[in-house]
Amino acid sequence: MDTADGGEGFDGLRVCDCTRCPALVESRSQIVNGVGPSDASLLFVGEGPGATEDEQGEPFVGRSGDVLEEALSAAGVSREAIRITNCVRCRPPENRDPKAEELQNCRGYLETEIETVGPDLLVTLGKVPSQHLLDRSVAITKEAGSIVETRLGGAPRRVLLSMHPAATLYDRSQREPFFETIAEAAAIAGMADDDSHNGQSRLGEF
Ligand code: URA
Repeated sequence: MDTADGGEGFDGLRVCDCTRCPALVESRSQIVNGVGPSDASLLFVGEGPGATEDEQGEPFVGRSGDVLEEALSAAGVSREAIRITNCVRCRPPENRDPKAEELQNCRGYLETEIETVGPDLLVTLGKVPSQHLLDRSVAITKEAGSIVETRLGGAPRRVLLSMHPAATLYDRSQREPFFETIAEAAAIAGMADDDSHNGQSRLGEF
């Protein structure tokens, strides 16, 4: 795996300047770095910034972020306790999927971020990050909720595959399985706050 060598203003977590992907340099307003504790037990990995993220400079602050935050809250986890990042840090034009070359250009930053944070569990949000991190094709509707071990950031890591939160906006029946996957992530990372729900699952509410 390649790692970022810091040649472009990278401190192990934040990229200050990067011009590796000409199309993304053209389409971005700013670089969107990961947010959250640098020693978080849970690291969520999305695809890449959308319009709202590009505007605000933070991952998952648009409608998908609202769904993720709701699911975290239902699992008893605050957004501030987890780290969220993306496979690519610049918004692709017209919200297209990042190209293989763009994913590769950003890979070293992600690998180093994973190594720096050293999470107990990574959670891939959607097909693109799942395929990118596992380096194989993933049928996310079938594989969401499963845990895979793979080498990332210089060590073996557990990766929980999840559908993208936006899937719940297009298809409401995906809401409950998505919330269940996030609750599973919280439980594995030992972060689920049972007291906030009096020990009752709140999944039935959704
Ligand atoms: N979708 C993603 O994959 N990442 C974001 O930051 C926002 C939406």
